[in-house]
Parts: sequence; C-alpha cells; structure tokens
Amino acid sequence: MIGVSFVPFHSMASLCKIFLVFCLFNLLASVWPYPVAVHSASDVPINVTKHFNFPDFSFSNNPRLVHDVKLLGSAKFSDEKGALQIPNESQEIDIRHQAGRGIYSFPIRLLDPRTKTPASFRTTFSFQINNSTATDQGEHGGSGLTFIIVPDEFTVGRPGPWLGMLNDVCENDYKAVAVEFDTRKSIEFGDPNDNHVGINLGTIISTQVVNVSDVGVSLNDGFVYRAWITYDGPQRRMDIRLGKANQEDYPSKPIFSDFMDLSPYLNEYMFVGFSASTGNHTQIHNILSWSFTSTSQAFLRFPSDETCQGKILLENSTTTPTPPRKSAKNEPPRSFLIFVAAVALALALFIGFYFISRHRRNASKLNTSVETEIHMPRPPNKPRRFTFSQLASSTRSFSEIELLGSDSRGEFYRGKLSNGSQVAVKRFSAEFLNTHGADKRRMLKEIKGISHVRHPNLLPVRGWCQDNHEIMVVYDFVPNGSLDKWLFGAGVLPWTRRFKVIKDVADGLSFLHTKQLAHKNLKCSSVFLDVNFRAVLGDFGFVLLGAESKQFESAVCHGADVFEFGVLVLEVIAGRMREEKEEGNPEERNLLDYAWNLHQTDEKVKLVDRRMGSLINLEQAIRVLEIGLLCTLNEDKGRPSMEQVVEFLLNLDKPIPELPRTRPIALFPYNSANTGLCNSYSCTF
Ligand SMILES: *[C@@H]1O[C@H](CO)[C@@H](O)[C@H](O)[C@H]1NC(C)=O
Ligand SMILES: *[C@@H]1O[C@H](CO)[C@@H](O)[C@H](O)[C@H]1NC(C)=O
Repeated sequence: MIGVSFVPFHSMASLCKIFLVFCLFNLLASVWPYPVAVHSASDVPINVTKHFNFPDFSFSNNPRLVHDVKLLGSAKFSDEKGALQIPNESQEIDIRHQAGRGIYSFPIRLLDPRTKTPASFRTTFSFQINNSTATDQGEHGGSGLTFIIVPDEFTVGRPGPWLGMLNDVCENDYKAVAVEFDTRKSIEFGDPNDNHVGINLGTIISTQVVNVSDVGVSLNDGFVYRAWITYDGPQRRMDIRLGKANQEDYPSKPIFSDFMDLSPYLNEYMFVGFSASTGNHTQIHNILSWSFTSTSQAFLRFPSDETCQGKILLENSTTTPTPPRKSAKNEPPRSFLIFVAAVALALALFIGFYFISRHRRNASKLNTSVETEIHMPRPPNKPRRFTFSQLASSTRSFSEIELLGSDSRGEFYRGKLSNGSQVAVKRFSAEFLNTHGADKRRMLKEIKGISHVRHPNLLPVRGWCQDNHEIMVVYDFVPNGSLDKWLFGAGVLPWTRRFKVIKDVADGLSFLHTKQLAHKNLKCSSVFLDVNFRAVLGDFGFVLLGAESKQFESAVCHGADVFEFGVLVLEVIAGRMREEKEEGNPEERNLLDYAWNLHQTDEKVKLVDRRMGSLINLEQAIRVLEIGLLCTLNEDKGRPSMEQVVEFLLNLDKPIPELPRTRPIALFPYNSANTGLCNSYSCTF
C-alpha cells in the first residue's frame, strides 16, 4: 500500500503544477499579439466597440494622422484642403491609371468567428470629386471612389475600372467588401450609367446598384457630398444615405436599405478605408471627413491549450526565455485580450483555491482516491511518418490542381489530411535525391531533427514520408503563401512590414542555429507569411554537405545561412529578385553586385524599392541594408553570426562593424577554397 499521506501530497503537487502552467499560459496569452481561438460552454457575451473620427485630414487637427491612416499606392494628405486625396498629383507625373488607398491603420473586429455574426457599424464621410485639375494628358472623369473593407492594410488594387478594390496578390482568395461611388460606366461590369452607387461583395461586379441621378446627385459635379452607411450585423441589414454635405441633415430616405449578408466576406479582423482609381480619364477624389463606429459581440472565454498557438506558446516558454516579441502596430485590440486574460487569471485563482481547499478537506478525511482526472496541456502534435498512399490521397494523387509551386528540388502540393487539416507537401524530385539525398538515412535524420523544434518563426513540420524510393516532407499549410509572391508581385509591401519580415527571418534562423541546425535553402520562396503576416521559415534544405564532422558541417551551414540571409535582405529592401531576367540594365542584373557597387559610390538609396513611396523610414532601411551587406562578407572578413544580426536589428541606433569601402573580390556563400563544397547546393553567385 502506498502511504496515505503520499496521495494528497502527490495531487497537491500536480495541482500546483497545473495551476502554475495555467497561470503562465494566461500571462503569455496576455502578451501574445494574436487572438487565441477558444471554446467553452459558459461564455459571457460582451460588446467590443471601436470608434474614431477625423473631422478633416489636416495635420494640425490630427497630429497622429500618418500613424492612424495608412496611404497606399497613389494617395496623399493635402494639408491645405484638409483632405485625403487619391491619386497623389504631386507625386505622379501622369495621374492616369493610378490606384490608391487610405486605410485606418488598426484592424477592426468585424466578425465573431464563433457565431459568424458580422459586427454592426456606422460610418459617415464627406467627399468631393474634383474634375477641374485634370491634366493635359487625360480627359476629365476618373473611375470613382469606394468605402472599402479589406483583409490587409498594405496592398493596393488595380487601377481603372477596378477602383483599386481587388488585387492580384491572392487571386481568388482576396475578399473585399466595397460601397462604390462610381463615375464611369463600365459596360463589362454591368454598370447602369456613370453616376451610381453599388455594393460590391468580393467582386467588382456590384450585387446592388443605385442610379443616384434619381436622388438629384451628380457625383462628379464638384459639390461636397456626404454618405452615411449603416450596417446592422445581427439583422444583416445595410442602409445607405447620400446627400449634399452642406445641408448637414440626415437624408430622410435611404438610397438603399435591404438585407445584405456580409459575413461570407469578412474575417474576424479587417481594415476599413477608401480606395479610388483613375483610368484613361482623371480626377482627384477627396475625402474631407470621416467617422466610424463599430460594435461586435464577443464571448469571454478561456484560452484553450488545444489551439496550435497555445501549444507553440507552451513549448516555447520552456525553450526560449522570452515570449514572442510584440509585433508592429497592426495586431487586434490588445486591451481585449488582456481583459480576457485577466478575467481568466482571476477564475484560475479561484478554481485553484477551490481545488486546493477541497483536497485539504479530502486529505483530512483520509480519502485515498485520486478522483480528479488531471488534464495536463498536451504536447504539440508529434511529427510522424506518413505513408505514400496517405499523402497521395491527401493531394488528389499529386494533382496539378493542388500544385503550389516547384523548384529545382521538387514540387509543393497542397493537401488535406484525413483529420481535415490542411498541409503543404514537399515532394523531392528524383534528380535532387540522386544528387543530394544519396544518404537517405542521414537526410531523414535531418528532417526529424528540424521537425522536433518549434518556434513562432519556423513553419511546423508535421511529418515525413519515406516510401517508394521517395522522400517527402509535410508542413503546416500557410494560407498567405510565400514572400516572393508579395515582394515581386502586384501589391507593394510597405517598409514596416518588410522590416518585420526581416526581423522574423533573423529570429527564426538564429533560433535554428542555437539548436545546431541550419536552414540550408533560404530564399524568398522559402519564407512564408501566416494569417497574421508573420514570416515563418519553411522549405528547409535538409541536404548534407558531406563534411566529415558534424561540427564542421554545421559551422559551414550556419555561414551559408547568414550569407543567404544577407541576399534576402537586399531582395526585401529592393523589391527585386537576386538575379533579374534579361531585360534591364546589365549592371543591375545581379543584385548583390549592384548593391556593393552602390555602396562603393555611396548611392545605396538607389537600391530602396521606390514603389514604397513616402511610406518609408529611409535611414532605417539603409541601416538594414548595411546589415545585409555585412552578411555577405567572407567569413574571415567579418561575416556576423545570426545571433549578432538579431542584436544589430534590435538596436538599429547602435553602430555596427564598418563595411569595407570597396567590394571584396570574391563573395561566396562559404569559404569554398578549403572545403570544395561549392558545387553542393546553392552556389549560384
Ligand atoms: C451589446 O450591444 C447590443 C446592441 O447595441 C445591446 O443590445 C446589448 O445589450 C449589449 N450587450 C452588452 C453586454 O452590453
Ligand atoms: C438614372 O436616373 C436618371 C434621372 O432619373 C434617368 O434620366 C436615367 O435614365 C437613369 N439611368 C438609368 C440607366 O436608369
């Protein structure tokens, strides 16, 4: 018989442990910048509200204007007019075919994901469409203006009849909702005339149109108009009113009032603002004032240890001393999470005391049964082995439809596991395996090594498959795709976002290196953006360089990772690929050469992606560019470690080691002279 005193002692200890873990979780949850998915039976409904008001768009009345409203594409604040203007006529030589957006910088909670109930909101804004400034190049009459609800705050849609609404980045996955004030008749989109209001749900073709000539409005006659848009989320009713702004009266009759279900087009957090465009015809769209209020219902809930983020957090709290750092300013309302966490913490305390006192009572009654099933947070999904047929059926037999991308090393497929979760499967090509995976056993060891580490900036490896003479690796699926699509595609990533990506990548790499692992395949297409646009590293190399000792091999690989990181930094800052295609200036074709040449002539500014416009901290960008160049130095000439790079990026105002004035003669991913490894995998420079 186990001693009677042992049982209560044991239970007490585990209880304390659980209690501590729970408290720790809540504490972490309060600093975790993203919403944590949750479930519980007895949730308390609360209202989450958001309100902001811009009486005008002048800097004197709104000292935080540039902070609060993000301008994208061709847009500006006109101080003398107190307006948000699209397009920006001072920046463009030709304001034809321009698109711009002005977006409130912080996300708004517009959907309760659990009940799928949209938020209720009211917004009113005054606007003036100004024709008289049309330049010689264009005829009068641009495309129009929208009030827009979008999933992101850094892309611009297409110009012309597209009104800057839809963009090409995510193809059919980009869900935007807009109320358009359209001043051109686009027959292909079914417009009735050149003076209408339309409601656009995820597409430029309006589901509802109103001929505003009927209410005596002529959108582009130069008068200032005011629009009121009211949405009742639970009833799913939209009401739009439009009138001359100087009359100030709320129009008694709506121009539209009907059932309108926005929920299929909403994410929990969205961004609101305006977009406008010009085509062959030009005009300036001015927003003169704007106020917005929203209310959405939420439920106070316990963060659950079942969620993926919760698991990563728990695991991470034991492997790294610090919780994930606060991201830029675009996270969901923090106060709400802190509130949830505080309530949960209080409840945890209460429950903890309750159980402890109950156990004391039980102990005093010498009750020896351990009646409470203690539910420890389960460890993260253990990476596992998949069979060939499991992966084949999850990817529809590696069908073309599921192909996400391919490179010299193999193909990426989207897949759906039998438990419903989405994955991305890397299927290495036979050619790659023949040249690099000769020692399959060691390659699998590498795969398993990486699959056992977890970090917020590393794409989780779900498992692997070694079957049929093939090797495949199964990753979590990342809906926003890889960085190259965002960087070299149609949209324009703003500087803050690029800087965050660079820091995320540095953090991920540095963590890998502390675990004696290396990425070995770092490039823009192996960096992915998760739903919150946090950068995560995936598509690991897993190749072995064939070096004799593990220590030597890891030193070589770390050096190579740092080098590739340096080139990636250049790509992110310049918004161009490391190797440009045939067209263009041959001197600029190789990005690394070009960057060093610009450094030599002290013209590094030229490398910075001009598409970012004025939304850039140039000093910061140049400093980061220098850190990137530092990473491409030869190892014996001062290439830093990733740990040092993370330090540099954290303290941008502190000096970094000086770059040589001129470009080193030969730049190599690693010092190949004494290893002969350069024919190995990525020596493309
Ligand atoms: C939330 O807002 C709705 C509508 O404004 C109101 O009916 C409800 O009573 C509010 N609930 C709480 C908990 O404040
Ligand atoms: C729009 O309304 C105006 C004024 O009522 C009318 O003359 C015009 O024909 C209408 N246009 C369409 C396409 O219905």
